[in-house]
This record gives sequence, C-alpha cells and structure tokens, in this order.
Amino acid sequence: MSPDRNPLRLGSIAPDFEAETTKGPIKFHDFIGNSWVILFSHPADFTPVCTTELGVVARLQDKFEERNVKVIGLSANGLESHQEWIKDINEVNDVDLNFPIIADADRKISTLYDMLDYQDITNLDAKGIPFTVRSVFIIDPKKTIRLTLSYPASTGRNFDEILRVVDSLQLGDKNRITTPANWKHGDKVIVHPSVSNEEAEKLFPGFETVKPYLRFAAQPGTQKA
Ligand code: BEZ
Repeated sequence: MSPDRNPLRLGSIAPDFEAETTKGPIKFHDFIGNSWVILFSHPADFTPVCTTELGVVARLQDKFEERNVKVIGLSANGLESHQEWIKDINEVNDVDLNFPIIADADRKISTLYDMLDYQDITNLDAKGIPFTVRSVFIIDPKKTIRLTLSYPASTGRNFDEILRVVDSLQLGDKNRITTPANWKHGDKVIVHPSVSNEEAEKLFPGFETVKPYLRFAAQPGTQKA
C-alpha cells in the first residue's frame, strides 16, 4: 500500500489538479464546470485491453454528451505516447477518439486519486513500478465523487454499466427514488424509503406496494399522458 494513501470515498470532493492532456492543459475543477465527469484510468498505452476499452468509450461519446457527461482518461505515459496510441485506437476500432487523455508519466495524478495498486503484482512496469489500475470515478457538477470502481488489469470494463449508473444517479438527484437491481432507463423505479405513503400518492400516483419497505413506481418522466 502507498504510504501516502489518501482514500477517496463516495461523497468526497474530487481533488483538483493541473495536468497536460491530449486536448491541452487543464485545471480539473474548471474542466468539470457544470458537467458530470467520468475520470477513468487504464494501465498503460499500447496495451490490448485498454485499446478496446478506449474504442468503446469513443463510440459512446454521443451517449455521454446526451447526459451532460464529460469523459477524461488517464494513463501513466507521456503525451507523445498518448497521441501515437490514439492513432492505433482510431484505426483498430474505426472511431475518432475526441475526449482528453491525461499524461501522467510521473504518476502524480494517479497517486492523488489512489489509482496505483501496490499489491497487484500482475500490473508492474519494466522497473517494477505499479501501473495505474482500471479505476473509474463518476463526479457530479458539485465536484462530489458519486461512484468509484477498481478493476483488474486483465478485465475490460463494461461502459454501458457506467452509463447506467449515471442514469440512476441523475434520476435519483431529481426525484425521490432509487433504482433496483439490473434497472435500466425506462424500467420501474423504487420509491425512496424516506417518502411516506401519503407523499407517494402525490409524487407517484398508482405506485405499487410489494412490502411496506418495497414500493415500485413508473420511472418519472416516462408515464403516459
Ligand atoms: C491490457 O490492457 O491488455 C493490459 C494492461 C496491463 C496488464 C495486462 C493487460
């Protein structure tokens, strides 16, 4: 474990930083602005799983934009390497990767975000220094961390799942609801336990009670007129 480990939790403010990216220098909080942000790291440039992951994320760009989400990648290599690798990603996946990738050769930002797993001996560079793992942070416009994920180097992530979490969080921020297992946009939602039945009648007319603590309602915004 890193001696200066500073665990980031759900509800923590995402630390601010300055960095060079493939789209120019950024100050992270200014980059977030009024958007949601998905900050995700991958072990290194020119690695096979990462090459497929970045292609998938590039292809989902419209879906992120529809949800007011900016995507930003990070790997522990320099800008020149990133720019060369993007050419490969575009060629292999037939995409036009348009989101920034942070150059973090000195691992300053990955250390700040605890993206280095010192115990994962399958994920070391030639000098035995840990690469970044596959971390994901969903950050809201208030700069609050709303999701963290840490995947092993050997397993590519499911970015549809990350979009699904964004949908759930955004819906839950606007309505007093939660979302059940395997929920996806358009499915029934759960009335938040803090909502009384009296309030639920007004907020979710026709809601369905399975147990006093488990009440389902149509997803707000999807009811027929
Ligand atoms: C990959 O992206 O394929 C990868 C990266 C680091 C270690 C193992 C696999």
